Amino acid sequence: MTVATIFIDNEPRQANAEQNLLHACLSLGYDLPYFCWHPALGSVGACRQCAVKQFRNEQDTAGKLVMACMTPAAEGTRISITDTEAVAFRAAVIQGLMQNHPHDCPVCDEGGECHLQDMTVMTGHRSRGYSFGKRTFRNQYLGPFVNHEMNRCIQCQRCVRFYREYAGGHDLNAFHLRDSIYYGRHEDGVLENEFSGNLVEICPTGVFTDATLKRHYTRKWDLQMAPSICVHCGLGCNTTAGERYGSLRRMENRYNHEVNGYFLCDRGRFGYEFVESSQRIRYPLLNHQVATKDEALERFGSMLREGNVIGVGSPRASLEANYALRRLVGPNHFYAGVPDDDLLLLSAMLHILREGPARSASLNDVEHSDAVLIMGEDVTSVSPVMALKLRQSVRQAPMRIADGLHIPTWLDHAVREAVQDAKGPLFIASPYSTKLDDIATTAYRGAPDDLARLGFAIARAIDATAPEVPGLPPELETMVAEISTALLGAQRPLLVSGLSSRSRSVMEAAAQIAWALCKAGRPANLSFTTPECNSFGLSLMEPRPFSEAFRAIEGDQASTLIVLENDLSRCVPASEMTALLRGVRHLVVLDHLVNATTEAAELVLPAGTFAESDGTFVNSEGRAQRFFQVLDPSTDVQESWRWLREGSVAAGFNNETQWQSLDDLIVAMAAEMPALRAIRMAAPSHSAVGKIAREPNRYSGRTAMLANISVHEPKPPDDPDSALAFSMESGPGTAPPSLIPFFWAPGWNSIQAVNKFQSEVGGALRGGDPGVRLIEPLQESGWQYFSAIPPQFKAQPGEWLLVPIFHIFGSEELSRHAQGVAQLLPRPYVALNPIEAALLGVQGHEQIKVTADGVQFELEVMLRADLPRGVAGLPAGLPPLDSVLLPAFCKLSPIGAEVSTRGAP
Ligand code: SF4
Ligand code: SF4
Ligand code: FES
Repeated sequence: MTVATIFIDNEPRQANAEQNLLHACLSLGYDLPYFCWHPALGSVGACRQCAVKQFRNEQDTAGKLVMACMTPAAEGTRISITDTEAVAFRAAVIQGLMQNHPHDCPVCDEGGECHLQDMTVMTGHRSRGYSFGKRTFRNQYLGPFVNHEMNRCIQCQRCVRFYREYAGGHDLNAFHLRDSIYYGRHEDGVLENEFSGNLVEICPTGVFTDATLKRHYTRKWDLQMAPSICVHCGLGCNTTAGERYGSLRRMENRYNHEVNGYFLCDRGRFGYEFVESSQRIRYPLLNHQVATKDEALERFGSMLREGNVIGVGSPRASLEANYALRRLVGPNHFYAGVPDDDLLLLSAMLHILREGPARSASLNDVEHSDAVLIMGEDVTSVSPVMALKLRQSVRQAPMRIADGLHIPTWLDHAVREAVQDAKGPLFIASPYSTKLDDIATTAYRGAPDDLARLGFAIARAIDATAPEVPGLPPELETMVAEISTALLGAQRPLLVSGLSSRSRSVMEAAAQIAWALCKAGRPANLSFTTPECNSFGLSLMEPRPFSEAFRAIEGDQASTLIVLENDLSRCVPASEMTALLRGVRHLVVLDHLVNATTEAAELVLPAGTFAESDGTFVNSEGRAQRFFQVLDPSTDVQESWRWLREGSVAAGFNNETQWQSLDDLIVAMAAEMPALRAIRMAAPSHSAVGKIAREPNRYSGRTAMLANISVHEPKPPDDPDSALAFSMESGPGTAPPSLIPFFWAPGWNSIQAVNKFQSEVGGALRGGDPGVRLIEPLQESGWQYFSAIPPQFKAQPGEWLLVPIFHIFGSEELSRHAQGVAQLLPRPYVALNPIEAALLGVQGHEQIKVTADGVQFELEVMLRADLPRGVAGLPAGLPPLDSVLLPAFCKLSPIGAEVSTRGAP
């Protein structure tokens, strides 16, 4: 950063010379109104709201009006925010914008949390000096997530800039006719982009609002809020959960510079509705009948006393819940609640990230990478916000063109003009086409083994001491040269891989390239996607493989099986699941939603979701992040670790699982498990800071909201687990970053109040971004290249390799139960290359028999020309297909055909 001295209303201030004046003023704490500028989008000078007076020198008293967002914070710049002409100009701009605005704040969903309201008040505009008719528009149906009220638009253009230029969407645009500009789709319909929900926050007015909140609306200032972590993929985006009257009402972005920044994906923003699903388990169930808590604990205690208890952990349960189970059953009886292959792959990832020289990338690192190779991942569907960051990464290299022309990076349209369609290197090697292909330099399609071979060949091209790939097809050599040259020429190269292909070779090939780059003096980052919010956390606990739980049951060494927040039918084929459940005397399940495993259980205990509990998740970067309870349930729902502790008490065990609070548990866990020692730093303990209110100081109705239960205002519930209080009362001082329940500052009621919490606008939060990294490379040398290079994939007659095809909506277990998400789920299908479908005699949309893993399905054929020959695809995680563990070989036969047939590939 270059520091410049600028003068604001004659006060000398130190500013970042790489920023514009608006950015600099906001970073320095000044209140200057703006609409079209956004720290993630840069400046276009469209709204004229940020006008200030600029003076040539100390003697210049006339000055001239400039747009602060379009003027650099250069050394010696003199400006006035309070100059009367600048103040009058800004008031006139607001007056013009408000002329056609409906002034419907009392009925607007944005009201009370609206940037336009804030800026109007800040600018001093009070009355409307125009008494004629207002421009009006017809609103559109935009799908289950986003509502549309175009009359509130102030034409700032942020929506289309975010949607099209930042997120890569195509179906939202600005339409212009005479004196009207319309922001919407060309016709009614569901917004297609996976990040459409960000329009709710990026639009400074109430044009785009949260349709899921509308279904159970409450005023924003009446929400009780808490810092949370998204549970719908492994990235761990930071969120703010909002509650009213005991139910979860909405999810909002919570800024973390190193993780999600300003944005969430639609699965993360709208998947929260599963918490209020009709399938929620809210009371204990004993033999399928609702039981009291005492009855449940008595039964649980007697099962535990019988002995021979084993436990299955969960990649979507907190570290604390997994640890409590591990302690209750003992480390030797604690099994991973993921398929064995997944556990092996997760352990391999941890090994690669700890033992090799490449560092795991934060999402901020991903965004700033200048050459990327994705191996075997459909990033948009698996780890969506990473895809949004990758979309920005391809702008890094072309930024050098703008640099050469002395155009500052924040001058957005000038940069785009200079750069045109130039994109930095992004290569994708995957079994099928992905949503990032539109920005890819080159995309390669192949079966997982062939992707791995390509990767190993690239590593070899970078470092000749890496193992050779025998029999590489000559047509791939050009691609190998292109990719290796681009990665070697980059300053911040990145390799992305993960668990999606379920192929160790693919992951190892990605690591091989990263290591070869490190050896060549190009420190490369690695980013592995993980399927669940705590996949890494579970593997850091070193659970035993799930198949060994089977063996324990078969060997009669387990009479009680405790399953923690997990549907085992997603981990084992249906036939094995039946055998497993038959072999065990008692099955206890702690979970949130009814599923195949809870249906089979003798005892079901209602486990708190992220909204009803506190805990820690370790994301795919290896960052431990704490989430906090936002609501105090009126039912028997409570944290899994509390159920396990109370069960242990009911059993009369006098062991160390008698933790009274989350802090006790975290201290015990950190002491016992060296890999988790640092998690105490993920957030301050309960007593380390003063009380922090979950309710904003405008919260209303608290004396009356429970009057139907008691006319005496009840005492707010105590929270023994965190410094957050279920009330409006806070102690003195500001909340540490990990405990900020909502961003608010005087005069700043919208989410853009985050400006006041950042060390500089768009940078880290003051006090540091939440979370602590647990996984760092342990050694810089001593690692060795992988040498197991798979042979080329050969399609076998009569057999197809079934690979998982991921969907942002449908592949993840919990969000499927959200009301809005449920409307967008795909139907089960089998995807097939059209040439092979023709050889089988089937057409698109016809039914075909698929036999895999000993199970047969009749599925609709979806033709996908992008699939390699000999490879077919099934939607990952989608019932009833989620019982097939992919990849698997399958047989395909047209309905009525007895024998599988297929032509030569
Ligand atoms: S819809 Fe919102 S974001 Fe888009 S131009 Fe209008 S006010 Fe700006
Ligand atoms: S990318 Fe993942 S963690 Fe982030 S909001 Fe989406 S589902 Fe949640
Ligand atoms: S914020 Fe500066 S012109 Fe819009």
